[in-house]
Amino acid sequence: MAALDAPIVALTAYTTPMARLLDPHCDLLLVGDSLGMVVYGMESTLAVTPDMMVAHAQAVVRGSQRACVAVDLPFGSYQESPQQAFRVAADIMARSGAGCVKLEGGLEMAETIHFLVTRGIPVIGHIGLKPQAVHTHGGFRTVGRGDEAEQIMEDAVAVAQAGAALIVIESTYEPLSRKIAQKLSVPTIGIGASPACGGQVLVAEDMLGLFGTFTPRFVRRFAELGREVDSAVAAYAQAVRERSFPGPAECVGMPVED
Ligand code: KIV
Ligand code: NA
Repeated sequence: MAALDAPIVALTAYTTPMARLLDPHCDLLLVGDSLGMVVYGMESTLAVTPDMMVAHAQAVVRGSQRACVAVDLPFGSYQESPQQAFRVAADIMARSGAGCVKLEGGLEMAETIHFLVTRGIPVIGHIGLKPQAVHTHGGFRTVGRGDEAEQIMEDAVAVAQAGAALIVIESTYEPLSRKIAQKLSVPTIGIGASPACGGQVLVAEDMLGLFGTFTPRFVRRFAELGREVDSAVAAYAQAVRERSFPGPAECVGMPVED
C-alpha cells in the first residue's frame, strides 16, 4: 500500500487489455467519456451514451483487480435533475460493476452530487475545463484567468462541500489549480492543472503516443507506441506481400525446403 499522502495515480482505460496493463500501476482507472473521441473518432464527447459507457466499463472491470474503476456520466444523462443522475448512475454501476461515477460541473451540480453521495453512490467531481461544455467554453482551452478564477474556486468549494470523494481539475491555470488543491481537504486529481494536486490523470492513449491527431500541451508522451505500431504493421504488410509470412513455424505440416 502507498503512503497516505502518496499522490493518486490515475489513467483512463476503455478496454480489457489496456486495463490489464494499467491496473498494476494505478490507484484509479477512469472509463472516461473521452472514449468518444479516442475510440470512436468523434469530435467531442457530446454524443457518448450511457450504453457505450456501460460496455466499456464492463470491459475495464473485467481487466482490473487492484485499481478503483470510475465511470463518466455522459452528456445529457445527468444534468436534468438529481433524480435523473441517480437513475443513470445506479444503472451504470449495477450493469458494469464499477465502484464510482464522475460528473462534470461545479456549483450547479452540487445538489446532484449531494443527492448521489447520500444515497450510496461515490462521486468524483470534475471542474475547470469541462469537455461536455466545450460549446459554452468556446473550445478546448485553458481556463481560470480573470473572472473565471473566482467562479472555478466557488465550483471547487461547492463540489467538495457536496461530498465528492475526489475532484478532477482539468486544463486550468497552474496558480489557481494549486490554490484549489491547497484549500480543499478532498484530494484533487490534475490533468493540465498542477503538480500540487493530490494526484494526476492522463488519457492513456495520449501518454503512450497512440492518439496522434491532437496532443494538448499538458500531455507528456511517456512512449511513442504509435510509431511502434506503424513499423510493426509495415513489416507485416511486407512479409505478407513477399510471402515470407506465414513461415514453416507458423504452419502445420509445411514441407521445409532443404
Ligand atoms: O474523459 C476523460 O478521459 C476525463 C479525464 C481525462 C479526466 O474526463
Ligand atoms: Na470525461
